[in-house]
Amino acid sequence: MAAEWTIREVLSWTRGYFEGAGIVQPRLEAEILLAHALEVDRLHLYLSPDKPLSVEERSRFRTFVQRRRAGEPLQHLIGEVTFFGLRFRVSRDALIPRSETEELLDHTLRLAPRDREIRCLDLGTGSGVIAVCLARYLPRAAVTAADVSTAAIDLARANATLNDVADRIEFVESDWFRNVSGRFDLVVSNPPYVESNAVEGLAVEVRDHEPRVALDGGENGTQAISSILAGIGDHLLPGGRVLLEIGDGQGDTVSREMTAAGLTDVRIDRDLSGRERFANARGSS
Ligand SMILES: C[S@@+](CC[C@H](N)C(=O)[O-])C[C@H]1O[C@@H](n2cnc3c(N)ncnc32)[C@H](O)[C@@H]1O
Repeated sequence: MAAEWTIREVLSWTRGYFEGAGIVQPRLEAEILLAHALEVDRLHLYLSPDKPLSVEERSRFRTFVQRRRAGEPLQHLIGEVTFFGLRFRVSRDALIPRSETEELLDHTLRLAPRDREIRCLDLGTGSGVIAVCLARYLPRAAVTAADVSTAAIDLARANATLNDVADRIEFVESDWFRNVSGRFDLVVSNPPYVESNAVEGLAVEVRDHEPRVALDGGENGTQAISSILAGIGDHLLPGGRVLLEIGDGQGDTVSREMTAAGLTDVRIDRDLSGRERFANARGSS
């Protein structure tokens, strides 16, 4: 970069640099990173386009640009995301929450009884997005959040505190249901569902920066789902619901396994891009 660069010039240069690197939304990412480096809102960039960057600001921004160019996810550089209207910290310790999971939560909130106290379980809580949203948006819910990863549980707990619901969520380190006791009205999970041999082929920012335990669903991608369904009968209250996020093409297998597990009203729904993404069923009454 030349001696003195304005916000406008830096954004224009970075947009081209990111575009050349195959980043899908180069201008947007350049703006988000520059606003983060300058510790201002994105709006500020539009209000002061001719403001030159100080040497220190440029150096801080350059570091972010290089890390992004090398494949680090934008969300890790910023350190937070917005999910279902709430703020969450993100790190390498857990999956970056995806928009499909906001849809899973939307399905869950539509089915949740609101006329009484209920118990909800989020299996594989990761950053805690599902558990925290359930606690925030269902005031009469007692929530349990389980994960096999200690680091993910720590992150989820920090996010519960950030969103003022730490006292409404019990955190359990557990291999699926192993350390979870009792029965629930709602069991929700976004388990790992990528086929093992497809993990290597994922985008660098996913493969090299997100935990493998959050992605790898075993040989056919449905191993984690099978483990969850193997324990579901002992953990659903009569008439309770289980909602799972699944991979495209897994609908037939998952609905067969749900029926074999004694669940009823099994349905597979598609996400907003038309892919099979959600499995939903009811426990026996
Ligand atoms: C796809 S991520 C979902 C994270 C978060 N719920 C979300 O939707 O963003 C799957 C999560 O399942 C957890 N997990 C993987 N194997 C597990 C197991 N055997 N028992 C409990 N949790 C497990 C991973 O640590 C990871 O946090």
